[in-house]
Amino acid sequence: MAIYFDEASKLFYLEGKGYSYVFGVNEVGFLEHYYFGRRIGRDDVRYARAFSGRYADAAVPGYTDDIHQCYNHYGAELSCYGVGDNHECSLQIRHPDGSRLSEFFYESYEILGEKPKIAGMPSMTGGETLVVTVKEKYTDIRVRLYYTAYDDASVLARHAEIENGTKGDIDLLRAYSFTVNFPHHDYETMTLEGAWARERHPERRPLHHGTVAIDTKMGASGTLNPFMALLDKNTTEDAGEIFGFNLVYSSSFVLKAQTDNMGKVRVMGGINDFDFSWRLASGECFATPEVVLAYSGEGIGGMSRAYHDAYREHLINPRFVHAKRPVVINNWEATYFDFNNERLMAIMDVVSGSGIDTFVLDDGWFGTRNDDHQALGDWYVNEEKLKGGLKTIIGHCHSLGMKFGLWFEPEMISPNSDLYRAHPDWAIAVPGRESALGRFQMVLDITRPEVRDYVVNAVCSMIRDNEIDYIKWDFNRLLTENWSAALPAEREQEMHHRYALGLYDLCERIIEGNPTVFFEGCAGGGGRFDPALLHYFPQYWTSDDTDAYMRTQVQYGTSIVYPPSTISCHTSICPNHQTGRTTPFATRADIAHFGPTGYELDTTKMTEEEKDAVRGQVDAFREMEDLVVSGDLYRFEDPHTSNYFAVAHVAKDKSRAVITAFRALVRANDENKRIYPRGLDADTVYYVREMDAKLSGATLMQVGIPLPNDPVDFKTFVFHLSKV
Ligand code: DGJ
Repeated sequence: MAIYFDEASKLFYLEGKGYSYVFGVNEVGFLEHYYFGRRIGRDDVRYARAFSGRYADAAVPGYTDDIHQCYNHYGAELSCYGVGDNHECSLQIRHPDGSRLSEFFYESYEILGEKPKIAGMPSMTGGETLVVTVKEKYTDIRVRLYYTAYDDASVLARHAEIENGTKGDIDLLRAYSFTVNFPHHDYETMTLEGAWARERHPERRPLHHGTVAIDTKMGASGTLNPFMALLDKNTTEDAGEIFGFNLVYSSSFVLKAQTDNMGKVRVMGGINDFDFSWRLASGECFATPEVVLAYSGEGIGGMSRAYHDAYREHLINPRFVHAKRPVVINNWEATYFDFNNERLMAIMDVVSGSGIDTFVLDDGWFGTRNDDHQALGDWYVNEEKLKGGLKTIIGHCHSLGMKFGLWFEPEMISPNSDLYRAHPDWAIAVPGRESALGRFQMVLDITRPEVRDYVVNAVCSMIRDNEIDYIKWDFNRLLTENWSAALPAEREQEMHHRYALGLYDLCERIIEGNPTVFFEGCAGGGGRFDPALLHYFPQYWTSDDTDAYMRTQVQYGTSIVYPPSTISCHTSICPNHQTGRTTPFATRADIAHFGPTGYELDTTKMTEEEKDAVRGQVDAFREMEDLVVSGDLYRFEDPHTSNYFAVAHVAKDKSRAVITAFRALVRANDENKRIYPRGLDADTVYYVREMDAKLSGATLMQVGIPLPNDPVDFKTFVFHLSKV
């Protein structure tokens, strides 16, 4: 039982693997948070509640004589604005009289064996769910706070539902997904900052009085990931406490850690309230996106594995999460827009029989798409390029025993397209104003049902009329105008959230509607790599930077939260198209075995040696694939701070492991380097194939593995371990 309520003390205990989360109903009926951290007994932890003299702070109305009752000193589960709480709030409501204050008090609770879905949004499944209802003191507005805990997972999922039981409209000016309180501020934050081609680089910053915040404002989770962690200053990869907060959300978000003048910290976040409001009519309900909290007392690596396990078991599309993955050859970096049947077939022919089992036709196959200035939205084949339509190319692909994949960018429209000429109003734009183009394209207003119907029909009819096994769903620009032609003026600030709801509807209808097709997500590389989209896309293109060295950094950072099974990686051509760097072919493949793998190069230009190597590389991936898809990941050299990168993909039962190490630059007369693996079973004796040695896990982890001093830059060293 992960959830327990003590009637006498009115304390709720949420107990996942390794942690306790305790809150309760206080003397005035307010929901107060008391503890989140390493698992403790079911004690009454209110003894530690800190009360400081109220001085100028306002008392809870009706409690003027009790200096203990003051919103500013409570650890709030739901923090509201306007009645004495000087912190950032998580809910702000504008009432019909224009006032923006509210006070919520406990009404009831319920424990559900089955987790209800969140209307219109993806969320975690399974677990045990506590629903606590609080009611506004003066109105019939209720908030239901949802908490889902798992006996076997170190995560806690939360979201809120706001119900307008009044007779009039109210406006939500802010509706975050959660607030969590910490009693002191001896912490740092960790976020995953990034930009195009250098996504998800971990960044640590000390807390300071005031607010540390990250947000996006352009209708997508973007390259700045919707993740923040609070961690002890001394926490390392292997030791120390860390608390993760990851929003299951794909549009504009905010995450904040606020340190108040008494040294307490509140972490909160959800839909970005900048340029947001939501008109909630009488009788309507508004659901916030989910946030997944994680706790680890075993360092950053422990938190990563908590997220990896929880997302694989409770979030990611169960049809594919543990499945054997396609090993693709993608034509993008080989041809860009310049291809015809012959060129594509030649690329396939070279790798036929190599184990590469899927050909993916990228951007440029439709309409007049000869460059990136046109044709998005015109989802019919460009027969100038592909004579005989897709049937010719698919037929050839199948004749080689390969599956066929196709690229789409369903949410976009080019101003130079038949779709735009027919429906100019379907593009997001404010009439009378020139629109900002990104990559020469506009975004379709998928908040509108008729636009979504067009997109669903366009993609699904291509799938229906052709034998398509795989789809790459791209998204190459962010939203600018937060405005829809279909909304009344007072609802325009709902647009970015409605875009997310429209996107999830598209995913439900297209992805769930085609259950045998494998969908890979993509967003101009690895933007919008978020848990909500991982619910639909079992893997996601990680970055347009395919340089092996830079990929060690991006893949390391991405794995802080997301499992290797989701981190799509390709071996590409050198000199690399993004960095100009040349790295050994073997290195590119070894680094691309970090997650589901593939190739993205002109195979007709490979050397004979490279062509011969591909078969062995695919076999090597297939040998470790179960560890990549379903195993545990341990990181022990961080390429952001070291000349080395080293990770181990370890079987859940610890019977096998593959260790991949990488040295960036050779240094003359360098010190002898050893790597110290993690995650092995100390008592198990492993055969290390590359060393032809039998060594215990304890020895390997303590004595380490020396790396040869080969004078080759960007070299990988791979070790296969199996239980003797
Ligand atoms: C961006 C993606 O990340 C690339 O892999 C490729 O699909 C291009 N878009 C195509 O326009």
